[in-house]
Amino acid sequence: MKDKKLLIVGELNVDLILNDIGGFPKIGTEIVANQMDFTLGSSSAIMASNISVMGTKTAFCGKIGLDRFGEFVQGELKKKNVDTRFISNSQNHKTGITVVMNYDQDRANVTYCGAMEDLTIKDIPWDTLGQYDHLHLSNYFLQKGIQKDIIQVFKQAKEAGLTTSLDLQVDPENKWNFDYKNVLPFVDIFLPNQSELLGLTGMKNLESAIAEIKPYVNTIVVKMGYEGAMLISEDKKYTLKPFLNKKFRDAIGAGDSFNAGFIHEYLKEASWEECLENANLMGSLSTTFAGGTAAFTSTDEIQEKKQQIQKKEL
Ligand SMILES: Nc1ncnc2c1ncn2[C@@H]1O[C@H](COP(=O)(O)OP(=O)(O)OP(=O)(O)O)[C@@H](O)[C@H]1O
Ligand SMILES: [Mg+2]
Repeated sequence: MKDKKLLIVGELNVDLILNDIGGFPKIGTEIVANQMDFTLGSSSAIMASNISVMGTKTAFCGKIGLDRFGEFVQGELKKKNVDTRFISNSQNHKTGITVVMNYDQDRANVTYCGAMEDLTIKDIPWDTLGQYDHLHLSNYFLQKGIQKDIIQVFKQAKEAGLTTSLDLQVDPENKWNFDYKNVLPFVDIFLPNQSELLGLTGMKNLESAIAEIKPYVNTIVVKMGYEGAMLISEDKKYTLKPFLNKKFRDAIGAGDSFNAGFIHEYLKEASWEECLENANLMGSLSTTFAGGTAAFTSTDEIQEKKQQIQKKEL
């Protein structure tokens, strides 16, 4: 089987991560963070970076500003062998940034979207799409320029013969204005987390949320943090506990690393069980370092750490 190629369409930004903070910030006061990291951010870029290190040939389509943060983002992706030829410069906005304030397992984020809002359907390299096998899109609600054409993006990708996946991510406005009934039929794998699925369907529990969305999805994979994950495809259901580790640092990018682990196996035509297991392992691995990409250094090292996590040695 030839190696399948992935095109990720999505948002780009840097992450400024503040750790070990002395309480919640309050207006008019100053508090101290005892640790700081500056890393590649954004759901789509973290997934691209990690899946590329796993060995999947990956190209990225996105927008940055004409500034140092943009250079940093592009440089980090190139270092991980991601093809950046479809990343272009916004004429109107600076590169996005998220300031992350970490409190134990959870976090408070502030994002300046910037250039990511300028990405439109026209920026997708439709004339070369046939060279790719799979299109993934992440973080719908932050990408205002792509929202009105979201049905068309997935429909055209399917018409070009690609398989597709979507990680909606959270809606910061909590309005959940996403036409799932008309988009999801063109999405092969839908990858929400539990609270996003509840937000989107307006349901109070997971069971009713799945019942509501089931008629429109092909395969749905629900991420459930340190409770693991669940996959439903047609009338089959799989659940898997997470692989807990002893080196937990933060959960930033765990979901994106999960996506990377899942799609990496999916593109090798692995079984759902294998996709789900690799996804959970990569989600767990991601939590052993600060930020979303630091744990993913080389294919060999990922393989080694994966075995250590399975044997509970990490
Ligand atoms: N503490 C943990 N220990 C081990 N594995 C974890 C832990 N937290 C998350 N994971 C793994 O990562 C996966 C994705 O995490 P999570 O459910 O937080 O995704 P998410 O909310 O979409 O995250 P993100 O904020 O990155 O989008 C989980 O399904 C699980 O496999
Ligand atoms: Mg997520």
